[in-house]
This record gives sequence, C-alpha cells and structure tokens, in this order.
Amino acid sequence: MRIGIDAIAFSTSKYFLSLETLAQHRRVDYAKYCLGIGQTKMSVFPPNEDIVTIAVDAAQKVMLQTEDRDKIDLLIFATESAFDLSKSAGIYVHNFLGLRKDCRVFDLKQACYSAAAALQMAKSHVTANPDSKVFVIGSDTIKYSPGTSGEATQGGGAVAFIVSKNPRILEVESHFGVHTEDVMDFWRPIHLKEALFDGKLSAHNYLKSLDICVKIYLEKANRTISDIDHVCFHAPFGKMAQKANNHLFKCKSINETLVYNSIIGNSCSASLFICFISLLDNFSANLAGNRIGFYSYGSGSVAEFFSGIVAKNYQKMLRAENNRAMLSNRHEISFIEYELLCDGKLQDFHCYENMGNTVLHDITNNKRIYRSAT
Ligand code: HMG
Repeated sequence: MRIGIDAIAFSTSKYFLSLETLAQHRRVDYAKYCLGIGQTKMSVFPPNEDIVTIAVDAAQKVMLQTEDRDKIDLLIFATESAFDLSKSAGIYVHNFLGLRKDCRVFDLKQACYSAAAALQMAKSHVTANPDSKVFVIGSDTIKYSPGTSGEATQGGGAVAFIVSKNPRILEVESHFGVHTEDVMDFWRPIHLKEALFDGKLSAHNYLKSLDICVKIYLEKANRTISDIDHVCFHAPFGKMAQKANNHLFKCKSINETLVYNSIIGNSCSASLFICFISLLDNFSANLAGNRIGFYSYGSGSVAEFFSGIVAKNYQKMLRAENNRAMLSNRHEISFIEYELLCDGKLQDFHCYENMGNTVLHDITNNKRIYRSAT
C-alpha cells in the first residue's frame, strides 16, 4: 500500500526582522549573516501569535484540500515550544478544525526531530488502519538570548500535513536510518524562554549523525547516493544544510529547498517539511517520480534519514503563489520593537495583525484564550 503526504501547507508570523538591521545594531558584518549563515530575515512573533495560531493557519489550508475529513482519527502535534506541560497544544487545533471527538490527539517532543517521528508514527497508523487519515503538525518558535551567536538563527513556523493511503504529493518509502545519542548541544530548561546551546558541538553532531543515518539507510535499502535525486535537510540556518549537502551529496543542488527558510529562520520541527514545500514550489522541472531524501536532526539528539517518491500530478496540490504572497505580505519590525518584544514589554494582544484567522486573544488566570475571526 502506498502511504505518505496527501496535502501540505505552512505558516509563519506576520512579522519579521531584517538581519541587515540586526547586523547594524550588533555591529556585525551583514555578509556574515547572509553569506556565512545563509539567512536574510527571521520571523518574530507578537504577543497574539504563537505555535497554536500558526498551526491552525497551516492546518486550515490543508483542510481546504482534504476530502473525507471525518476519516481523520489521529492528530499529532510536534513541538519543542510548548507553553503548557500538561495540556496538548494539539487540542486547540483539533477544536478550531472541528475534527471528530473520537480523534486521538497528543503532543510529541524531541527538539527539531519530532515531526519526522510523527510522520513515521502516522505511517504506521495508516498501515494498520488503511482508511484512516492522520494530521501531522510541526509548530515552533525559537529564541536565543539577545546578543548571542545564535540570535541570527532565530525564527519560527508551522507545517501541517495529512498522511493517508494513495497520497497525492509524496509516497514515504519504508527504509530509514536513525541515530540516537545523548549530547548536550542544545537544550531549554522549563524555566527558560531562550534556548541554550553549544553551537560548534551542535554543528559537529548534526554532520556526524548525518553520516551514520545515511549509511544505515543506504545499507538497508541497498541503494547508493546516486539513487537519490534531491535532498531536503533540517535547516537551522541555510549554511548548515549547504554544508551537509556538500559533505555527502556534492553533485546535487539544494538552493530551491532553502528559499523560504532563508526568510523565516529556524522553524525547528517544521523546518524539514518547509524545505520540502520550498523544493516543490521552486524547482522548475517536473519532480514526479523523483526520489527525495529527508534528513531530520533534533538536538539532544535524535536524527533520521528517510526517503519518498514524488507523486504524479503533485503540482495540482501546490500553493506556490499563495506561499509567496504570504511571505511577501509580512511586515518588517524595527529593532526597537524587536527589543521590546524580546523583553516582554509589548504585551498588547490587540495591536498586531495575525497571519491567519485565529488569534491568541488574552491570557486570563493562566488560561490561554484563542478566538477565530471567522
Ligand atoms: P558564530 O560563532 O557566530 O559564527 O556562530 P562563526 O564565527 O562560526 O561564523 C559563521 C560562518 O560565517 C563561518 O562560516 C564564517 O567563516 C562565516 P563557516 O566557517 O562555518 O563556513 N563568516 C563570514 N562570511 C562572510 N563574511 C563575513 C563573515 N564572518 C564570518 N564577514 C552558529 C554561528 C551557527 C554556530 C550560531 O549561530 C549558533 O550556535 N546557532 C545555534 C545552534 C545551531 O543552529 N546549530 C545548528 C546544528 S543543531 C540543530 O540543527 C538543531 C536545532 O535546530 C535545535 C533543535 O534541534 O531543536 C538548533
């Protein structure tokens, strides 16, 4: 049975900070950010936008392309940006989408790796229940302390996709290579808003795990690198993905996978799949029948390499023009406003625009109150 991604969409904040502005204020040569790191803008989140609101926006776009919605009986919300240690962020999304009440919903965490794990769980669920559809959501915002070397690699975004049989976008193949190792390269204790990291160790472990995962994958699948037509990488910043590509897949170009990432920044669990959407939207030739390799890396660490075959007529499922319009209609914020947002000094929920219909309206008695404009 062919199982994989049947419909997919993404979202991010309505606001961004130009890295040229950040470079000026941090007294860094802008070439370091745009060439050395490979990023030109980063998404910044106002108080009324969070992992739930952008997840709902991405998921509502997917719903528009999904028939037999009552077959969705599992929703997995992958995130490392949870604001609640108990209630699943997925329950808010379930409510706004109006999914059936006997749909199983839970959150999944393992740094940036979790949405890839969710995809594999979804595939197993559909294998066991061929008529089921699974909603997978990856949604994250990432913050580092102002002035640290990580600051230029902040960002955020959400991806939503349906996993089902007879997928119209990508059939996920059965072979994969996984590597798990206890490494302190990036972590966020529960009392902190900003992540802590060892940048050099994280880059080293990202590449080391790639070598191991690809080796296992190729051995299991009895393939060589030349059997893979394109590769999408988890992209904490564009240059990391470029380095990984040069390291193992020298003859392939990944420029098309990084178009969106370079202007939204690290979207953690969503990043790998936003790179996939970027490839589908921006690659000029027909990708149908091509084998795509996917490398997911979550600090801490778990990494996985797997592959999929692009479906015939996948172009009918793309939203390229909408995606470009969404990103070009964002608002640039000033450095002063960015600093106030970082310090938590801008707490007015009602003076910012949202990307989608759903807003974080208020937080009362520690309860998050979301409203939908429609
Ligand atoms: P840094 O120390 O500021 O930068 O940290 P650098 O000095 O290493 O410079 C970066 C690059 O810019 C270098 O290129 C420089 O040569 C170049 P490279 O040698 O690497 O090829 N450069 C210039 N280029 C042109 N003109 C110039 C110029 N100056 C320097 N004037 C770092 C950079 C990415 C390490 C930092 O931002 C960081 O630590 N970020 C956070 C951690 C991270 O993203 N790690 C990635 C792997 S881990 C991962 O992917 C998981 C993650 O997503 C979290 C999760 O799983 O949840 C992060």
